[in-house]
Amino acid sequence: MSFTILGTGSALPARTVTNDDLTEFLDTSDEWISSRTGIRKRHVLTTETVTELTVHAARKALEMSGTRPEELDCIICPTAVGDWISPSTACMVQKELGASCPAFDINAACSGFMYGLDAADGWFVRKKAKKILVAAVEGISRLLNWHDRSTCVLFGDGAGAAVLGEGNALQYIHLTAEGSLAIHVPGPAGESPYCQLESLTPGLRMDGKEVYRFAVHTICEELQKASEATGIPLEKVDHFILHQANQRILDAAAKKLNLPPEKIPTTIAQTANTSAASVPILLDSEVSKGHLHRGETLMLCAFGAGLTSGTAVLQW
Ligand code: ACO
Repeated sequence: MSFTILGTGSALPARTVTNDDLTEFLDTSDEWISSRTGIRKRHVLTTETVTELTVHAARKALEMSGTRPEELDCIICPTAVGDWISPSTACMVQKELGASCPAFDINAACSGFMYGLDAADGWFVRKKAKKILVAAVEGISRLLNWHDRSTCVLFGDGAGAAVLGEGNALQYIHLTAEGSLAIHVPGPAGESPYCQLESLTPGLRMDGKEVYRFAVHTICEELQKASEATGIPLEKVDHFILHQANQRILDAAAKKLNLPPEKIPTTIAQTANTSAASVPILLDSEVSKGHLHRGETLMLCAFGAGLTSGTAVLQW
């Protein structure tokens, strides 16, 4: 017995920043960004906290699933960094929701939600939980170098959550990691009088071309592996819920796998890349639009810094 997704929710900060807005301080254009990435705008945190955004998404997921916070047996927050390095975002979310269960964060960058689902699966298999909240969030605008036009245009903030309950919907989940600095964000330099490392300049850095190749290769390889492992041919899958990093990555993978575009929904134009929150935000968007029907087969796949990836097959 593993889990079924009982409810989803998502939240985006109030402030939107269009591509044109970025031209006020960057040498870029709407044409360059939208033609290379599909991104038209993104949401960024201003006065909201990462915790508030996560709680907002979590409450929606709890409501849809008919779950009270005190029924939760575990809270998992996939995120690179929250409002605090410590306590974890999951602990702050637990407090705000009024839950009393164990709570912890997972950092697997853009693959975080998939790592969260896998961790939750273990709790269900060991019969340690009946209900788990996986609430992914990224306040990535705070980690960007806003002078670097090759990276800062690609990302946005957001939170996406799912309440999981005991069930048999999950058919397959597979994670990968291969240590690499192809995308990295230096940690805080600190003020230790003993540290002799040269401090690293803050801000996300990325080898865009290497990540692009990794992303397309990962989607193709991991979806095929999932298909072989479950015996479900890709043409029988109803929806592919894929990490929203770049429309061109999605198009390239779809072409290689011969997948129809209508089975690959997107939010990239409106949200940009929200890292760990990307897959659950897309999932919730499809739920809200009434596009998912119970019993349909979903393949979820995310890839990100680490380099990491996570792929799952489940019945909606
Ligand atoms: N506006 C205008 N020009 C720009 C911008 C910008 N925002 N960014 C870069 N350029 C310029 C570069 O300076 C370069 O100019 P030059 O030729 O004079 O040196 C030119 O555009 C081409 O730059 P490239 O990096 O070669 O552009 P490319 O076509 O490879 O596209 C991109 C860059 C969009 C980042 C692409 O490599 C990509 O999609 N990579 C995948 C990475 C990704 O999506 N990461 C998301 C985060 S990680 C994750 O989710 C896993």
